[in-house]
Amino acid sequence: MKISIVLCSLALALSVSPALRAADGDTELQMKMQKMSSAFRPLRAQLADATKNDDSLAKVATIKENATAALALTPMKIADMPAADQPKAIAAYKEELNKLIASLDKLTAALKAGKNDEAQTIYTELGGLQKEGHTEFKKSGKKQ
Ligand code: HEM
Repeated sequence: MKISIVLCSLALALSVSPALRAADGDTELQMKMQKMSSAFRPLRAQLADATKNDDSLAKVATIKENATAALALTPMKIADMPAADQPKAIAAYKEELNKLIASLDKLTAALKAGKNDEAQTIYTELGGLQKEGHTEFKKSGKKQ
């Protein structure tokens, strides 16, 4: 009897949560962010090197693809807010992500024009937007 209650609770928990959490416990948004991070980190070292611009452009495209997908997802911090507060927070979250996407477009244009100095300045700008986004929309205590 006790076991069936436990199993029922488990089945219920699994049935209500898949939209938010993937099988390994990460949210869809965390997985998009991880893909952004894997492309973003190596860029810092290679943006100065014009011979790597094709690879850099591919990495920027990966970040943009995942940032665009993130627009449709809700951060855990916002999901935990009272329903009435969520629309305003989601609008602010999307605005911040759209700033990131606009900077990524600038980075693409700079790389295509062979302006690697400018590309490095835009990288710093992106780092600032990442920090802002995380300060405002990531639950505290979650890994950066
Ligand atoms: C280049 C820019 C960015 C990179 C590389 C990046 C990377 C990451 C990483 C590595 C995580 C942790 C994922 C995990 O816990 O496994 C994360 C989480 C998160 N990031 Fe970003 N991020 C960027 C920009 C942004 C921006 C601009 C925003 C908001 C507008 C944002 C919002 C979030 C949120 C809300 C989480 C927590 C996930 C959740 O609530 O489900 N990030 N990010």
